[in-house]
Amino acid sequence: SPTGRPWNDGAAATGGPTARTQGGAHLTTAQGARLRDTDHSLKAGSRGPTLLQDHHLREKITHFDHERIPERVVHARGAAAHGVFESYGTAGGLTRARFLAEKGSTEVFVRFSTVLGSRGSADAVRDTRGFAVKFYTDEGTFDLVGNNIPVFFVQDGIKFPDVIHAAKPHPDREIPQAQSAHDTFWDFVSLHTEAQHHTIWNMSDRGIPRSYRMMEGFGVHTFRLVAPDGGTVLVKFHWKPQLGVHSLVWEEAQLANGFDPDMHRRDLADAIESGAHPQWELGLQVFPDTEEQTFEGIDLLDPTKLVPEELAPVQPVGRLSLTANPTNYFAETEQVAFHPGHLVPGIEVTDDPLLQARLFSYLDTQISRLGGPNFSQIPVNRPHAPVNDMLRDGMHQTAVHEGVAPYRPNSLDGGCPFTAGAEDGALLDFPQAVPAAERTRANPRSFEDHFSQATLFYRSLSAVERAHVAQAYAFELGKCCERTIKERQLGNLARIDGELAAEVAEALGMDAPAPASPPEDPAELSPALSQVGGEWPL
Ligand code: HEM
Repeated sequence: SPTGRPWNDGAAATGGPTARTQGGAHLTTAQGARLRDTDHSLKAGSRGPTLLQDHHLREKITHFDHERIPERVVHARGAAAHGVFESYGTAGGLTRARFLAEKGSTEVFVRFSTVLGSRGSADAVRDTRGFAVKFYTDEGTFDLVGNNIPVFFVQDGIKFPDVIHAAKPHPDREIPQAQSAHDTFWDFVSLHTEAQHHTIWNMSDRGIPRSYRMMEGFGVHTFRLVAPDGGTVLVKFHWKPQLGVHSLVWEEAQLANGFDPDMHRRDLADAIESGAHPQWELGLQVFPDTEEQTFEGIDLLDPTKLVPEELAPVQPVGRLSLTANPTNYFAETEQVAFHPGHLVPGIEVTDDPLLQARLFSYLDTQISRLGGPNFSQIPVNRPHAPVNDMLRDGMHQTAVHEGVAPYRPNSLDGGCPFTAGAEDGALLDFPQAVPAAERTRANPRSFEDHFSQATLFYRSLSAVERAHVAQAYAFELGKCCERTIKERQLGNLARIDGELAAEVAEALGMDAPAPASPPEDPAELSPALSQVGGEWPL
């Protein structure tokens, strides 16, 4: 193969894996020998002991014994689909990533997920949803690994294991959303006030989507786009569902989880099968790439902050349609491996400390989840661009590499140039200046504002939506055993909105917390927020 990887024939992962599965008219062993009987083991007499020599029995049982792989450490429950991304060609002045810059279509694979439940958990739970998109571009694979909520619980990836430990089922009984699990989650959230903004989105109707087809998606972090002329902008990615944003109310969700715990995956598969192809528009919020990396006073490197759309409208750049269901859940939905570091020339990461940790975590976890370093050879993970790397051998290697010199330069295999420049479509590191600074674990001062955007979000809601938020806090906190945790969280709610805190306290049969000291005024820490009207852009 000219690509050096015989398996990488450029075949589309879209539409299903291309690796050989079953063939021939007869049932065979894994070695292809035809079988006469697969229902009875070989015994010494019809009532005698089973014989060790029955290879078919042992092969069948052994393979079954190893059928499961570890579920994802987070986002274990998911549903996915194949589709196509049609670029409008409107981002040409912003990025040299061809799949965005030029008009045209790119095949995609999209996986939606809940974050905390195990593989067999119910769909209509109160949780954040994953919205991960793999673009198989002809310049390499680009993964946009986002969520349906535009901000995150923690500002630094070093705290990701902590927030997940607090939110996953309690270690003693492993009962999700049981009394004790509520204690650990609210203990964490009340002590780590940076989590208040994400949490209030979870407590709102956004926490229980009606359908995957009716969710927004957000890249959350700020990314950097590099234009053909070398100019740069900072951007946030947004997916807007064609069907609008819709949610379940709590009672509907309880019924749905009882009647049909597979509600969301069934809804997605049925819609696609019936030809009602779900669609989203991809849009960009665009900010100047300044030295401060702030926009209107909002720190673009802080993943607990969003930029209201009144201040930076979302500019449409293309449309995603989901057109085909996976043919095999395990091969595709389970084995797909997304990574925020799968970038193409023209799209780069920023110094957001949450994003920086993610760049390490995904490959690391996939090496153990998918059994070694060669999972990019699994059909759904194969790039559609030609691959010519110097990675060799390892567990589950299925390629038969040619040549003898997997190093550059070499004088044996003819060597291929790897010094391509921007004009040849190569990945280049934008030469961003790194500030001269002392090594520190300290956060910037701007990361200390934990409440202003939670307040902004709450006050943008309608009366009915606010009532749902208060009910959700009252229900969830009502499941905490520790009074001190409830009191601490009520104190935090008072810093978001005094009436919300009083309402939740009353429902819990507790005293309303003392009115909060600043920042009641959202303008105080992020001045530009005072310009934003009452309506939250949906
Ligand atoms: C999985 C989103 C933060 C570690 C996922 C998935 C999504 C996602 C959508 C599911 C991928 C799939 O469907 O296969 C996000 C977002 C984050 C975030 C939007 C913050 C803005 C983090 C952080 C870490 C992390 C900070 C660790 C430092 C993981 C791991 C998986 C995962 C280990 C499992 C991956 C796999 O086994 O394939 N994340 N995540 N995430 N995430 Fe994140």
